[in-house]
Amino acid sequence: MKTILVTGGAGYIGSHVCVQLLEAGYSVVIADNLCNAQRDVVDRIARITGTQPVFYQTDLLDLDGLRAIFRAHAIDGVLHFAGLKAVGESTEQPLRYYSNNLTGTLHLLTAMQEAGCTTLVFSSSATVYGADNPVPFDERMPTSATNPYGYTKVVQERILTDIAAAQPDMSVLLLRYFNPVGAHPSGWIGEDPNGIPNNLMPYVAKVATGELPCINVFGNDYDTVDGTGVRDYIHVCDLARGHMLALEYAFGRTGTDIINLGTGRGSSVLELIYAFSKACGHPLPYVIAPRRPGDIASCWADTTKAKEVLGFTAQLTLADMCRDSWHFICRQRERE
Ligand code: NAD
Ligand code: WQD
Repeated sequence: MKTILVTGGAGYIGSHVCVQLLEAGYSVVIADNLCNAQRDVVDRIARITGTQPVFYQTDLLDLDGLRAIFRAHAIDGVLHFAGLKAVGESTEQPLRYYSNNLTGTLHLLTAMQEAGCTTLVFSSSATVYGADNPVPFDERMPTSATNPYGYTKVVQERILTDIAAAQPDMSVLLLRYFNPVGAHPSGWIGEDPNGIPNNLMPYVAKVATGELPCINVFGNDYDTVDGTGVRDYIHVCDLARGHMLALEYAFGRTGTDIINLGTGRGSSVLELIYAFSKACGHPLPYVIAPRRPGDIASCWADTTKAKEVLGFTAQLTLADMCRDSWHFICRQRERE
């Protein structure tokens, strides 16, 4: 049974991946500083799976803390989710973003190298396709970014590629996620950001509960099906399943590879709002607002490589994503 270190495993995507790892029989060690997660997520992972993962409240900026984890456990591979991810915040606090995301990754690589751990799967993002590539985005396209968060991903991809090139026994997989949404069908884990959400799905969910009055649709004059922005929303459980396939692929090879994880289908803002109103059973108020600076019209994945290399195809629909988000948010409000 392999032991996997999951950095950021108490977070939104990491927690869903921990569930699938435990269900598949892996031993799971989580390292998370809880800067954007709650401690009880670890117990909820245990409640879903019947197995308690090992948890360290450790900051990746603490290299000795990381070294101690590698000394205490024979880690076979690492899934690296830990990082700061809010685009707007990254523009206001670039030093914090570069420091946390880049130094955290450098420390992780140092601790892995010292421990002889050679397999790493990294959470990259479709944001690295920048603003100039045509859709659908495929892995060979040039990368760039429009904000500090995006640049941390571009630079981390570079760092990981260079280190794998210099260390022939290393296996690095860069997974570029499109727009992860939805929640575990149990209703125990999901995404529920504090305050006013930046991203569309959690914002829509808070309008559905009545916590926020109205959705602002950022622009209806894009060159898209209905003028609103189009994105490739992928259910977080599909995304987690992609990680299971990716991890086994990474164990069987060396070098660096890059794979998109999306559905290959785009949905507009209005399509998502309608799908969510069906899921929650009532109409959702929205107004058309100005475009959000930095947004692109359309973003969806070319999924050919994920299919060919991993055998991965997303199964869950936008209706499934809205249903599971709504179920989670309702359960979460009952628990509060
Ligand atoms: P999240 O914020 O829910 O999870 C990240 C976790 O990392 C949090 O639990 C946080 O506490 C932890 N963390 C942050 N900095 C840390 C540090 N220095 N040391 C230890 N723990 C630290 O975010 P998520 O949505 O689950 O995203 C996971 C990864 O996927 C991130 O790297 C993110 O950039 C990437 N990603 C996310 C999306 C998305 O839309 N959610 C899209 C593409 C890529
Ligand atoms: C989706 C669509 C908005 C909010 C972001 C990051 C990206 C990646 C995923 C990490 C867009 C519109 C949104 C609202 C709206 N994260 N919208 N009203 O911008 O595609 O991607 O998350 O890597 O890097 O940039 O996602 O959910 O913010 O927006 O109309 O209140 O919804 O304009 O068309 P985005 P999003």
